[in-house]
Amino acid sequence: MILFHDQLTKRENAQVDIEDRGYQFGDGIYEVIRVYNGKAFRLQDHLDRFQRSADEISLQLPYNLERLSQLLQELVQTNQLADGTVYLQTSRGVAPRSHPFPEESHSVIVAYTVEAERPLNHLQNGIRTMTQPDIRWLRCDIKSLNLLGAVLAKQKAKEHGCQESILHRDETVTEGSSTNVFLAKDGQLFTHPANNLILHGITRQVVLELAADMGIPVKEEAFTLQDLHRADEVFITSTTMEITPVIEIDGTPVGDSTPGNLVRRLQAAFEHQI
Ligand code: PDD
Repeated sequence: MILFHDQLTKRENAQVDIEDRGYQFGDGIYEVIRVYNGKAFRLQDHLDRFQRSADEISLQLPYNLERLSQLLQELVQTNQLADGTVYLQTSRGVAPRSHPFPEESHSVIVAYTVEAERPLNHLQNGIRTMTQPDIRWLRCDIKSLNLLGAVLAKQKAKEHGCQESILHRDETVTEGSSTNVFLAKDGQLFTHPANNLILHGITRQVVLELAADMGIPVKEEAFTLQDLHRADEVFITSTTMEITPVIEIDGTPVGDSTPGNLVRRLQAAFEHQI
Protein backbone atom coordinates (compact mmCIF):
# COMPACT_ATOMS: atom_id res chain seq x y z
CA MET A 1 0.00 0.00 0.00
CA ILE A 2 1.00 3.61 -0.44
CA LEU A 3 -0.25 6.90 0.97
CA PHE A 4 -1.93 9.08 -1.67
CA HIS A 5 -3.47 12.35 -0.39
CA ASP A 6 -4.94 11.12 2.92
CA GLN A 7 -5.74 7.53 1.95
CA LEU A 8 -3.82 4.29 2.04
CA THR A 9 -4.37 2.71 -1.33
CA LYS A 10 -2.78 0.36 -3.85
CA ARG A 11 0.10 1.77 -5.87
CA GLU A 12 -1.78 1.40 -9.15
CA ASN A 13 -4.51 3.72 -7.86
CA ALA A 14 -2.09 6.66 -7.61
CA GLN A 15 -1.35 8.76 -10.67
CA VAL A 16 0.84 11.76 -11.38
CA ASP A 17 -0.88 14.34 -13.55
CA ILE A 18 1.21 15.62 -16.48
CA GLU A 19 0.77 19.14 -15.06
CA ASP A 20 1.77 18.28 -11.51
CA ARG A 21 4.13 21.08 -10.41
CA GLY A 22 6.44 18.63 -8.69
CA TYR A 23 6.86 16.84 -12.00
CA GLN A 24 7.23 19.98 -14.13
CA PHE A 25 9.09 22.42 -11.86
CA GLY A 26 10.41 20.30 -8.99
CA ASP A 27 8.02 22.54 -7.02
CA GLY A 28 7.76 20.47 -3.88
CA ILE A 29 9.59 18.97 -0.94
CA TYR A 30 10.39 15.53 0.45
CA GLU A 31 11.71 13.48 3.36
CA VAL A 32 13.38 10.09 3.69
CA ILE A 33 12.69 8.44 7.05
CA ARG A 34 14.42 5.30 8.38
CA VAL A 35 12.41 2.49 9.92
CA TYR A 36 14.15 0.17 12.38
CA ASN A 37 12.22 -2.77 13.83
CA GLY A 38 8.95 -1.35 12.58
CA LYS A 39 9.51 2.05 14.21
CA ALA A 40 10.14 5.27 12.29
CA PHE A 41 13.39 6.74 13.68
CA ARG A 42 13.20 10.44 14.68
CA LEU A 43 9.83 10.72 12.93
CA GLN A 44 8.89 13.98 14.63
CA ASP A 45 12.17 15.62 13.57
CA HIS A 46 11.52 14.63 9.97
CA LEU A 47 7.96 15.96 10.13
CA ASP A 48 9.14 19.23 11.66
CA ARG A 49 11.70 19.63 8.88
CA PHE A 50 9.01 18.78 6.31
CA GLN A 51 6.82 21.55 7.71
CA ARG A 52 9.75 23.97 7.72
CA SER A 53 10.59 23.17 4.08
CA ALA A 54 6.91 23.70 3.19
CA ASP A 55 6.81 27.04 5.03
CA GLU A 56 10.00 28.25 3.35
CA ILE A 57 8.43 27.81 -0.10
CA SER A 58 4.91 28.93 1.03
CA LEU A 59 3.45 25.52 0.32
CA GLN A 60 0.29 24.75 2.26
CA LEU A 61 0.19 21.16 3.52
CA PRO A 62 -3.32 19.68 3.17
CA TYR A 63 -3.51 18.51 6.78
CA ASN A 64 -1.55 18.83 9.99
CA LEU A 65 1.56 16.95 11.11
CA GLU A 66 -0.32 14.93 13.69
CA ARG A 67 -2.53 13.43 10.99
CA LEU A 68 0.46 12.92 8.71
CA SER A 69 2.33 11.16 11.49
CA GLN A 70 -0.63 8.82 12.10
CA LEU A 71 -0.98 8.03 8.40
CA LEU A 72 2.74 7.29 8.00
CA GLN A 73 2.74 4.98 11.01
CA GLU A 74 -0.35 3.25 9.65
CA LEU A 75 1.46 2.82 6.32
CA VAL A 76 4.47 1.20 8.02
CA GLN A 77 2.20 -1.14 9.98
CA THR A 78 -0.02 -2.05 7.03
CA ASN A 79 3.03 -2.89 4.92
CA GLN A 80 4.57 -4.77 7.86
CA LEU A 81 7.80 -2.92 7.23
CA ALA A 82 10.43 -4.01 9.74
CA ASP A 83 13.58 -2.43 8.29
CA GLY A 84 13.59 0.07 5.46
CA THR A 85 12.62 3.59 4.59
CA VAL A 86 9.57 5.74 4.08
CA TYR A 87 9.73 8.19 1.18
CA LEU A 88 7.38 11.14 1.65
CA GLN A 89 6.85 14.02 -0.75
CA THR A 90 4.43 16.78 -1.52
CA SER A 91 4.15 18.95 -4.59
CA ARG A 92 2.30 22.22 -5.01
CA GLY A 93 -0.33 20.30 -6.94
CA VAL A 94 -1.80 20.35 -10.42
CA ALA A 95 -2.39 23.52 -12.44
CA PRO A 96 -1.86 24.83 -16.01
CA ARG A 97 1.88 25.26 -16.49
CA SER A 98 2.92 28.75 -15.40
CA HIS A 99 5.80 29.65 -13.09
CA PRO A 100 4.04 31.71 -10.38
CA PHE A 101 2.04 29.87 -7.73
CA PRO A 102 -1.43 28.95 -9.07
CA GLU A 103 -4.41 30.81 -7.61
CA GLU A 104 -6.03 27.47 -6.92
CA SER A 105 -4.24 24.23 -6.35
CA HIS A 106 -4.13 21.52 -3.74
CA SER A 107 -0.82 20.09 -2.69
CA VAL A 108 -0.42 16.39 -3.44
CA ILE A 109 1.01 14.13 -0.73
CA VAL A 110 2.53 10.77 -1.56
CA ALA A 111 4.40 8.31 0.66
CA TYR A 112 5.56 4.75 0.19
CA THR A 113 7.79 2.26 1.96
CA VAL A 114 10.90 0.45 0.76
CA GLU A 115 12.47 -2.55 2.44
CA ALA A 116 16.17 -1.96 3.01
CA GLU A 117 18.91 -3.51 5.08
CA ARG A 118 21.35 -1.32 6.97
CA PRO A 119 24.45 -0.62 4.79
CA LEU A 120 26.61 -2.86 6.97
CA ASN A 121 29.47 -3.26 4.52
CA HIS A 122 29.98 0.50 4.18
CA LEU A 123 29.46 1.07 7.89
CA GLN A 124 32.14 -1.48 8.66
CA ASN A 125 34.70 -0.81 5.93
CA GLY A 126 34.06 2.80 4.94
CA ILE A 127 33.59 4.35 1.50
CA ARG A 128 35.56 6.08 -1.23
CA THR A 129 34.68 9.66 -2.11
CA MET A 130 35.69 12.41 -4.49
CA THR A 131 35.40 16.18 -4.24
CA GLN A 132 33.38 18.26 -6.68
CA PRO A 133 32.26 21.89 -6.98
CA ASP A 134 28.91 22.53 -5.28
CA ILE A 135 26.80 23.78 -8.20
CA ARG A 136 23.49 23.74 -6.29
CA TRP A 137 21.31 26.74 -5.42
CA LEU A 138 21.68 28.86 -2.26
CA ARG A 139 18.78 27.33 -0.29
CA CYS A 140 20.13 23.85 0.37
CA ASP A 141 18.42 24.01 3.80
CA ILE A 142 15.11 23.37 1.99
CA LYS A 143 14.63 19.68 1.21
CA SER A 144 13.42 20.48 -2.28
CA LEU A 145 12.55 18.05 -5.08
CA ASN A 146 15.07 19.86 -7.31
CA LEU A 147 17.88 17.33 -7.04
CA LEU A 148 19.71 17.72 -10.34
CA GLY A 149 22.85 19.09 -8.66
CA ALA A 150 22.90 16.06 -6.36
CA VAL A 151 22.07 13.63 -9.17
CA LEU A 152 24.97 14.87 -11.33
CA ALA A 153 27.40 14.80 -8.40
CA LYS A 154 26.39 11.27 -7.38
CA GLN A 155 26.60 10.02 -10.97
CA LYS A 156 30.13 11.39 -11.32
CA ALA A 157 31.10 9.69 -8.06
CA LYS A 158 29.75 6.41 -9.38
CA GLU A 159 31.69 6.77 -12.63
CA HIS A 160 34.86 7.20 -10.55
CA GLY A 161 34.21 4.13 -8.41
CA CYS A 162 33.20 6.30 -5.43
CA GLN A 163 30.11 6.11 -3.21
CA GLU A 164 29.73 9.83 -2.49
CA SER A 165 30.78 13.27 -3.73
CA ILE A 166 31.92 15.80 -1.17
CA LEU A 167 30.91 19.26 -2.39
CA HIS A 168 32.78 22.55 -2.02
CA ARG A 169 32.08 26.21 -2.77
CA ASP A 170 35.47 27.67 -3.64
CA GLU A 171 37.70 26.24 -0.92
CA THR A 172 34.91 25.66 1.61
CA VAL A 173 33.50 22.15 2.05
CA THR A 174 29.70 22.25 2.38
CA GLU A 175 28.27 18.71 2.50
CA GLY A 176 27.93 15.51 0.50
CA SER A 177 25.51 15.17 -2.42
CA SER A 178 23.05 13.42 -0.09
CA THR A 179 24.92 13.47 3.23
CA ASN A 180 26.49 15.80 5.79
CA VAL A 181 30.26 15.74 6.25
CA PHE A 182 32.30 15.68 9.46
CA LEU A 183 36.04 15.66 10.00
CA ALA A 184 38.08 14.88 13.09
CA LYS A 185 41.34 16.63 13.83
CA ASP A 186 43.28 16.30 17.10
CA GLY A 187 40.28 14.82 18.91
CA GLN A 188 37.85 17.56 17.77
CA LEU A 189 35.00 17.24 15.31
CA PHE A 190 34.17 19.87 12.69
CA THR A 191 31.09 20.17 10.50
CA HIS A 192 29.61 22.97 8.38
CA PRO A 193 27.20 25.22 10.32
CA ALA A 194 23.49 24.63 9.73
CA ASN A 195 22.87 27.61 7.45
CA ASN A 196 21.45 28.00 3.92
CA LEU A 197 24.34 26.12 2.27
CA ILE A 198 23.55 22.68 3.70
CA LEU A 199 20.61 20.50 4.59
CA HIS A 200 20.16 20.46 8.36
CA GLY A 201 20.54 16.71 8.56
CA ILE A 202 18.75 14.79 11.26
CA THR A 203 21.57 12.28 11.52
CA ARG A 204 23.96 15.26 11.76
CA GLN A 205 21.87 16.45 14.71
CA VAL A 206 21.99 12.99 16.32
CA VAL A 207 25.80 13.01 16.00
CA LEU A 208 25.98 16.45 17.62
CA GLU A 209 23.89 15.14 20.54
CA LEU A 210 25.93 11.95 20.88
CA ALA A 211 29.22 13.86 20.75
CA ALA A 212 27.97 16.20 23.48
CA ASP A 213 26.99 13.21 25.66
CA MET A 214 30.34 11.57 25.06
CA GLY A 215 32.36 14.70 25.79
CA ILE A 216 33.73 14.93 22.25
CA PRO A 217 34.20 18.61 21.34
CA VAL A 218 32.45 19.71 18.13
CA LYS A 219 32.87 22.96 16.22
CA GLU A 220 30.07 23.81 13.79
CA GLU A 221 32.53 25.69 11.61
CA ALA A 222 33.17 25.56 7.90
CA PHE A 223 36.43 23.88 6.90
CA THR A 224 38.44 23.89 3.69
CA LEU A 225 39.41 21.25 1.16
CA GLN A 226 42.92 21.41 2.59
CA ASP A 227 41.56 20.72 6.10
CA LEU A 228 39.63 17.79 4.66
CA HIS A 229 42.73 16.28 3.08
CA ARG A 230 44.70 16.72 6.33
CA ALA A 231 42.00 15.33 8.65
CA ASP A 232 42.65 12.40 10.99
CA GLU A 233 39.17 11.02 10.24
CA VAL A 234 36.32 11.93 7.90
CA PHE A 235 32.79 10.57 7.97
CA ILE A 236 29.43 11.29 6.39
CA THR A 237 25.96 11.07 7.90
CA SER A 238 22.47 10.52 6.56
CA THR A 239 19.24 8.68 7.23
CA THR A 240 20.18 5.85 4.88
CA MET A 241 23.97 5.85 5.35
CA GLU A 242 23.88 6.46 9.14
CA ILE A 243 27.48 7.29 10.21
CA THR A 244 29.72 6.03 7.42
CA PRO A 245 33.51 6.33 7.58
CA VAL A 246 35.29 7.87 4.59
CA ILE A 247 38.54 6.04 3.87
CA GLU A 248 39.55 7.75 0.64
CA ILE A 249 39.15 11.21 -0.91
CA ASP A 250 40.20 11.85 -4.51
CA GLY A 251 42.28 8.67 -4.49
CA THR A 252 44.19 9.69 -1.33
CA PRO A 253 43.72 7.68 1.88
CA VAL A 254 42.20 9.36 4.93
CA GLY A 255 44.43 8.71 7.96
CA ASP A 256 45.68 5.13 7.66
CA SER A 257 42.82 4.28 5.30
CA THR A 258 40.77 2.42 7.92
CA PRO A 259 37.84 3.80 9.98
CA GLY A 260 39.14 5.78 12.97
CA ASN A 261 38.51 5.61 16.68
CA LEU A 262 36.05 8.53 16.94
CA VAL A 263 33.82 7.29 14.16
CA ARG A 264 33.76 3.83 15.71
CA ARG A 265 32.70 5.25 19.08
CA LEU A 266 29.96 7.35 17.46
CA GLN A 267 28.70 4.38 15.45
CA ALA A 268 28.48 2.30 18.62
CA ALA A 269 26.54 5.06 20.41
CA PHE A 270 24.24 5.45 17.40
CA GLU A 271 23.41 1.72 17.48
CA HIS A 272 22.04 2.21 21.00
CA GLN A 273 19.55 4.79 19.70
CA ILE A 274 18.03 2.69 16.93
N1 PDD B 1 19.39 12.69 1.94
N2 PDD B 1 22.47 16.59 2.91
C1 PDD B 1 21.73 16.36 1.82
C2 PDD B 1 21.94 17.19 0.61
C3 PDD B 1 20.77 15.32 1.84
O1 PDD B 1 20.01 15.09 0.75
C4 PDD B 1 20.62 14.53 3.02
C5 PDD B 1 19.60 13.43 3.10
C6 PDD B 1 21.44 14.82 4.12
C7 PDD B 1 21.33 14.06 5.41
O2 PDD B 1 20.14 14.38 6.09
P1 PDD B 1 19.43 13.32 7.07
O3 PDD B 1 20.45 12.94 8.09
O4 PDD B 1 18.31 14.10 7.66
O5 PDD B 1 18.99 12.16 6.22
C8 PDD B 1 22.34 15.86 4.03
C9 PDD B 1 18.32 11.74 1.88
C10 PDD B 1 18.53 10.55 2.75
C11 PDD B 1 18.09 11.36 0.42
O6 PDD B 1 17.96 12.28 -0.38
O7 PDD B 1 18.04 10.20 0.09
